[in-house]
Amino acid sequence: MDRRKFIKQTALTGAGLTLPNTLVSCNDNNNDASEVETNTIVNTKNVPLVIATWHVKEATAKAMQVLQAGGNALDAVEQGCRVEEANEKGQSVGKGGLPDRDGNVTLDACIMDKYGNCGSVVYLQNITHAVSVARKVMEDTPHVMLAGEGAKQFAISKGFKPENLLTEASKVAWEKWKVEAEYKPIINIENHDTIGMLAIDKNGDISGACTTSGLAYKMGGRVGDSPIIGSGLFVDNEIGACVATGLGEEVVKTVGSFLVVELMRQGKTPQQACEEAIKRIVDKPNSNYKNFQVGYIAVNKKGKTGSYSIHQWFSMTKFQNGVNKQIQSDYYNKV
Ligand code: GLY
Repeated sequence: MDRRKFIKQTALTGAGLTLPNTLVSCNDNNNDASEVETNTIVNTKNVPLVIATWHVKEATAKAMQVLQAGGNALDAVEQGCRVEEANEKGQSVGKGGLPDRDGNVTLDACIMDKYGNCGSVVYLQNITHAVSVARKVMEDTPHVMLAGEGAKQFAISKGFKPENLLTEASKVAWEKWKVEAEYKPIINIENHDTIGMLAIDKNGDISGACTTSGLAYKMGGRVGDSPIIGSGLFVDNEIGACVATGLGEEVVKTVGSFLVVELMRQGKTPQQACEEAIKRIVDKPNSNYKNFQVGYIAVNKKGKTGSYSIHQWFSMTKFQNGVNKQIQSDYYNKV
């Protein structure tokens, strides 16, 4: 995954990422910006389908493997996200995630199924697979969200093993940041992103999940959009689903993922809906969008997809019809 390159480049340019040469054009996004969606019946030739934020081909491959074996979309997105959570090289998710400014790795995640059931965990520590804990919250409790120590104790009660998530590489990066950075409670735009995944299974049912260690070097206790149903993720099995990445505060302020799904309900394609949701952020009075990134990916019931971001270099990984590829997202800030 090339998210760290995005982070480094952002520090220099405001938003950027060195693209791998496997990247394909945003024209290959199975979207049609001119089309008004009227038919929400699943198109069987487009499914099963998996899309995810950023360049996470191993994760989408795992999710597709689940779907091809007859698994449902919920199992697929959970298994797909777990791949990135276990990947210690990925410094924004699960084990190896960059810590807050006090050196604590804290995870946020959520999951949502075809019935509109959902579960989430916020400020979870010492448990790698936050997405699976979120699923347990959804399935084994009467609640939607568990936080902090309560979430951790719940996870342990369900058999999750506590472990140190701060890898040597992330510790070194944090110690370097402490030397270079001013220690004050500002949002550091250099470090943020999320793995979000949406899937449609062979039955045409949709589920979604997202997982993150949040904004690197954040204030202790900070929670972003990723575990907030409707902001970081929303699934409506009649219409479609959306998941967000980028600066969570800005996504929360516009309830971004719910907005995208509702725009699709009103007839917009996934691409049009993602573009409109980004416009809501950049068109705000006094928006300082030039200083942060937000990206959305979305899918509708027909298996059409869209992705859009404020700045260049956001991408989506899409696995459909036997092809697993990275697609460069179109973006707003072309100047
Ligand atoms: N989108 C992840 C976060 O802001 O925490």
